[in-house]
Amino acid sequence: MPRPGVPQIETDPAILRQHVLDAAAAGRRVGFVPTMGALHAGHLSLVKAAADCDDVVVSIFVNPTQFGPGEDFERYPRSLQADCELLADVGVRWVFAPPVEAIYPAGDATRITVDGPSRRWEGEHRPGHFQGVATVVGKLFMMVPAAAAYFGAKDWQQTVVVRRMVRDLAIPIEIVVCPTMREPDGLAMSSRNVYLSADERQRAVSLSAGLTEARRVWQGGANVATAERALREPLTHHAVQVDYAVLVDPTTLEPLPAQASGVPAIALVAGRVGSTRLIDNLLLS
Ligand code: PAJ
Repeated sequence: MPRPGVPQIETDPAILRQHVLDAAAAGRRVGFVPTMGALHAGHLSLVKAAADCDDVVVSIFVNPTQFGPGEDFERYPRSLQADCELLADVGVRWVFAPPVEAIYPAGDATRITVDGPSRRWEGEHRPGHFQGVATVVGKLFMMVPAAAAYFGAKDWQQTVVVRRMVRDLAIPIEIVVCPTMREPDGLAMSSRNVYLSADERQRAVSLSAGLTEARRVWQGGANVATAERALREPLTHHAVQVDYAVLVDPTTLEPLPAQASGVPAIALVAGRVGSTRLIDNLLLS
């Protein structure tokens, strides 16, 4: 018998699916937190939110199809043992850790493409990324037929893409978006922060610094052009190689007119600090 509080690890999708169906049939609400592991306090905040449910499933799967050629799939941190330790005693019933063949069987030929909200920003700078995300999340939702799934606002565009997929494919699952967890100096927690050298770690604060500065001027009545300048200033100062630093509509992710002010807006930023690519965002209104 497993120790109480220690999640049961399942690698077989059919068995995990049956556990979830049995729980649901017994009237239990099941919450699902999809992750790629290398868990940190940001992931744990999603687990805590999911603890509103009767049972919680956390998946740990480093999804090869969402990494582009030359990206960090091979070196992405993998720490299943440590992850399971972190998930002990926080109310997780099952950890779903499937092998690659269980998600992508030999001859696998099917992909989910979400157009619209996938096109810009991350979609432009990481071609194929959101197709990989939508495909794996779609498959996971079928293997883990939970009532609700929990995602972090840290990956804002991902939440918009997942919501659109769930709506368009009529997948019966509620999507819950939870706030971004940050280090004390503002850096958004990320599994990729371990790649940063001490110097890069200091320069990386410029992403969140730019976002809070953009929010300050925006809330003071500044227009989009001025807030975007405020967003970029610390990035330039800290030699961050910027992919994009923009104010956009939070639901459509379309750019806002330069002269607009006082409308719903979110600031999105992505850039490279040394060789590490980081993303962050902040709702301004
Ligand atoms: P991963 O990067 O492991 O993130 C898993 C979940 O944790 C995502 O919903 C992400 O937004 C959330 N998260 C990451 N950092 C966070 C932070 N600092 N605060 C709050 N939440 C945070 O996102 C993925 O994996 C994958 O794309 C996945 C959805 C699992 C599909 O493979």
